[in-house]
Amino acid sequence: MSITIPMLTVFPQLDEEIITLTNKNGMTIKLSNYGATWLSCVIPIAGVAREMLLGCASLAEYKQQTAYLGATVGRYANRIANAMFNITGKQYMLTANQGKNQLHGGISGFDKRLWSIQNCSSEQVTFCLVSPDGEEGFPGKLTVAVTYQLTSDNSVSIQFMANTNKATPVNLTNHAYFNLDGDSAHSDEESRYCDARLQSLQIHADHYLLVDADGIPTGDLMPVMQHDMDLRQPKRLIDHFWESHARRQTSGYDHTYLLHKKQPIAATLTSADGTVAMDVITSLPALHVYSGNFLQGTPNRWGGAYQNFAGIALEAQFLPDSPNHPEWPQPSCFLHPHQTYQHEICYRFHSKT
Ligand code: BGC
Repeated sequence: MSITIPMLTVFPQLDEEIITLTNKNGMTIKLSNYGATWLSCVIPIAGVAREMLLGCASLAEYKQQTAYLGATVGRYANRIANAMFNITGKQYMLTANQGKNQLHGGISGFDKRLWSIQNCSSEQVTFCLVSPDGEEGFPGKLTVAVTYQLTSDNSVSIQFMANTNKATPVNLTNHAYFNLDGDSAHSDEESRYCDARLQSLQIHADHYLLVDADGIPTGDLMPVMQHDMDLRQPKRLIDHFWESHARRQTSGYDHTYLLHKKQPIAATLTSADGTVAMDVITSLPALHVYSGNFLQGTPNRWGGAYQNFAGIALEAQFLPDSPNHPEWPQPSCFLHPHQTYQHEICYRFHSKT
């Protein structure tokens, strides 16, 4: 990755904007600087435009929903137990926004911030944000840049960069929900049958993290065979869904897989109709799978609301609660002054028609 974080010395008055990127294959993605959010991803499949992402009808609805649809999540994606961690013996207390724990960066995480727009072209855009020292309890002023790039091979590459002036945990991800069979208008009655768990998913991971009913890791990295969480071969997500103790515990998939270090592709999601597949390629050590267990009531694109399981989020990230688990086999989630946080998540779409 070659971008550098632009110097943000002035803070201009920001407006909410929607940016459209297109490629030569007729693929179009839409993004907003509100939450550096991925709003839409339309690909022509056998000549018919298909929307791959869940989304809302207006930015006003994005602000109301609580599902983090397409948002950039930070400063620390996923949960930090007891909203607390230590750095060299000093304890930091964060804002708790899910019981006593912190989820997705706190009450006003990066998903709710208005980012500035830099370097916008027809193929890429960079969103920038400064998170002040102490925001949501995190130490250090963090300067963040997120670049979305649409490539000619139908990939959406998201590049994350950050610098800090004090040691701080950083875990940035994207929270898009995918339904590769198409996010389209249905009556409430029909929408019950738009179940994104009919898609197949393969994840190159031998271990996943066991969590309690609040989504807090118990500390144990389990072999994927335990509780039927094995996705090493493509599996229809709906199969034997409620038979797994791990899935019953969290009302569905809400689990993080530790990725194979040497496997270039982390995961592949395939539409139920078999016509579209999407590879997830990432430099991050883990992949969180969330099957949209609490999506019911989230405003959709057509004035209605989604049902549970309408989309699958595949969030590449550090393992949840990593600031409190230095023993886990992954790089440190702490960023120090003079280091640059630099990670990429690439979603590569293939049409099989
Ligand atoms: C979390 C879920 C949560 C969802 C929406 C996911 O990343 O793991 O537990 O319900 O985000 O907030």
